[in-house]
Amino acid sequence: MFDTMIGPVPATPHSVHSGYAGLVAESAVDFRVHTSIYTDATIFEDELERIFETSWVYVAHDSEVPAPGDYRTAVIGRQPVIVSRDQQGAIHLLLNTCRHRGNVVCREERGNASVFRCPYHGWLYGSSGELLGVSERGGYSEGFEQRLGGLVPVPRMAVYRGLIFGSLSPTGESLEDYLGEAREYVDLWVERSPNGVVRVRRPHRFSYHANWKFQAENGADGYHGRYVHESAFKTTSQFQGQAREERRTSVHGIGATRGFRNGHCLLERPGTRGELPAELLEEYLEALAGRYGPQRAERIAMVRHVFLFPNVYLMDDHLRVHYPIQVDRTEVHSFFTFLEGAPAEVNRLRLKNLQWRHSQAGLIGTDDVEMFIGCQSGMQARAAGWITLARGLESETQTDSGERLGGSSDETPQRAIYRHWVHLMTQGPVMGQRG
Ligand code: FES
Ligand code: FE
Repeated sequence: MFDTMIGPVPATPHSVHSGYAGLVAESAVDFRVHTSIYTDATIFEDELERIFETSWVYVAHDSEVPAPGDYRTAVIGRQPVIVSRDQQGAIHLLLNTCRHRGNVVCREERGNASVFRCPYHGWLYGSSGELLGVSERGGYSEGFEQRLGGLVPVPRMAVYRGLIFGSLSPTGESLEDYLGEAREYVDLWVERSPNGVVRVRRPHRFSYHANWKFQAENGADGYHGRYVHESAFKTTSQFQGQAREERRTSVHGIGATRGFRNGHCLLERPGTRGELPAELLEEYLEALAGRYGPQRAERIAMVRHVFLFPNVYLMDDHLRVHYPIQVDRTEVHSFFTFLEGAPAEVNRLRLKNLQWRHSQAGLIGTDDVEMFIGCQSGMQARAAGWITLARGLESETQTDSGERLGGSSDETPQRAIYRHWVHLMTQGPVMGQRG
């Protein structure tokens, strides 16, 4: 039944664990993923190593460290890092571990400091990671600091339009190449600001007891909304009136999904322009058209969710980062995006909309988390073995560059994620045999 493009469906999947190629199966008419990739702790550990320690991973936004001395801590996979801006304005991405005995050097999530002082024995590091001094210096030989060096930089760091990425792999394609065709959609996201400058606010954060890939799949899932969010949509319609209900009904089914190389993907709804009242929307579109032209302004303003594999979504009103904690636990940080140059009322309403609708404290976001937990629970029925992501497979079109285009409720984005997932997971030793 299945071709072998990615891997055949094993006859006895739970006993066949010979390799990751056997856990994603694609044929001309079906696309399946084995549920162990959501529930197996060994696979999760390999994901951290093979995905999060090899890919370009989003770590922070440059608006979080705007001034010299500003810093922000984060993780790449499980590895703690510091994003730091030095006195000359350059951004550094450093492993957050002391060269002495390994303590976390910076324990705060963000702040401004001229030095980082390790809390254990008081060693001092500068904002570019240099070792400025060891305490009680007499106990060490001449030239000790020079021989040891400072905080270890993350092997590769790159910034694209304010998004700061790090890669723990010293080699590989550049960030721009990695983003590939998805880069254009990063541009469109940034250009929601008439000045081309987006600033993120402090995050709303939450965790859920389910696998990280549910969040990765969900943001570009145009299929679930009218079912999962049915009651939320009814409630919001009551607040916003019939116009809102009609708009929601009319846009359902409109739009497209795209799957790119490297697991990036998106859901977009041409013809939509978000949730702003008509008069304010016109003012905002005029501001965008003044900077980018009327046609591009329409493209910029449409509803669009862009996923940059493996860990960040660029949404209309926020940036959402997910952190894998355990195979069945994920933390998510949701950052409101302030658009420089947009009318103040536009930003105010976008924030309000995020808070009461899309955020996990809002009416809609909670529904999705409930589904993630439900999937994690349902997949304990291990005997079922496989799930399907075949929706729209046969009608999906492919460009020469490999970009795939699907309908608004097709599972084109999810297939892009798992095509890349299996590519990364098969780059290494046999499943579960980490070095
Ligand atoms: Fe940092 Fe000792 S572990 S100074
Ligand atoms: Fe949803």
